[in-house]
Amino acid sequence: MKKVTTKTLIEMKRNGEKIAMLTAYDFIIAKLLDEAGIDVILVGDSLGNVFQGHKTTLPVTLEDMIYHTKAVCRGVKRAMVVVDMPFLTYQVSVEEAVKNCGRVLKETCAEAVKLEGGSEIVEVVKKLTSIGIPVMGHLGLTPQSIHKFGGYDVRGVDEKEAEKILNDAMALEQAGAFAIVLEKIPSELAKQITKSLSIPTIGIGAGPHCDGQVLVVYDMLGLFEEFKPKFVRRYAELSKLIKNAFENYIQDVKSGKFPDESESY
Ligand code: KIV
Repeated sequence: MKKVTTKTLIEMKRNGEKIAMLTAYDFIIAKLLDEAGIDVILVGDSLGNVFQGHKTTLPVTLEDMIYHTKAVCRGVKRAMVVVDMPFLTYQVSVEEAVKNCGRVLKETCAEAVKLEGGSEIVEVVKKLTSIGIPVMGHLGLTPQSIHKFGGYDVRGVDEKEAEKILNDAMALEQAGAFAIVLEKIPSELAKQITKSLSIPTIGIGAGPHCDGQVLVVYDMLGLFEEFKPKFVRRYAELSKLIKNAFENYIQDVKSGKFPDESESY
C-alpha cells in the first residue's frame, strides 16, 4: 500500500489514470473511503452546508476545518488528505495565508490545502508552494464567491469568462499548484483546460474529460436531500435507509420489542 502524494497524482495524469476524490468530514466515512481505495479525500468547506446546515460555506471557520480534518486523519492510511481553506483565511494577505495554511499542515495530517480563485490568489499560491505547502486550486463555480455570482449557475459559458478561467488555470499551474478543481463549467472548456495543463484537473459538474472527479460524499450517498444538482450521481439512498431504521427502532421501543432477553444481562 503506497501513500498517495502530489507526485502520484501528476504521474496518474501522465499515465492517463483517472483520479477519484470524495469529501469526508469524520473518522468513519474517511476510514470507509480509504479502505475502498479512494485516491484523495477532501475535507471540504461544503461541511458548512451538509454537516453544519448553513446556506453557504461562508460561516465555516479555520477551527472547524482543523477539528474535522483531525477526525478524518484518524481514519486514513493511504489516501492523500486535502483541506479546503475557509473564506477569509487566505484572501487578506500572503502573511495570513501562510500562517493559516501552515497551521493546518502543522496541526493535522493534511498534505495539501485547496484555495478558491485564480489571478487574485497567484501571489499566495507562489508563496505557499515556495515554502513547501502544496496547493490545489479551484476554479469555475467557487462557492465562497456565491454572493458575487448571485446563484449556482454554470460558470464560463460566455467567451470572456471561459477565457479568464483558462488563463487562471494556467496562472495557477505556473504559480506551483499541483492540481485544480473545476466546478460546474462546460465540458468542452474543462477539456481544453485539461489538455493545456500538465497538472491534473479534478471535475465536479465539469464533464468526463477532466483527469479526475470529485463529489460531496453526502450527495453521492443520498444523505443530503435538500437539492440535487444535475452533476450528482447517487450511488446509494442512505437517508431513506437511515430514516427507516430510526422508525423501526422507535416502533420497537414503544411496543416493548426492544430490547429482548438476548439483548439483556
Ligand atoms: O467544499 C467542497 O466540498 C468542495 C468540492 C465540492 C470540490 O470544494
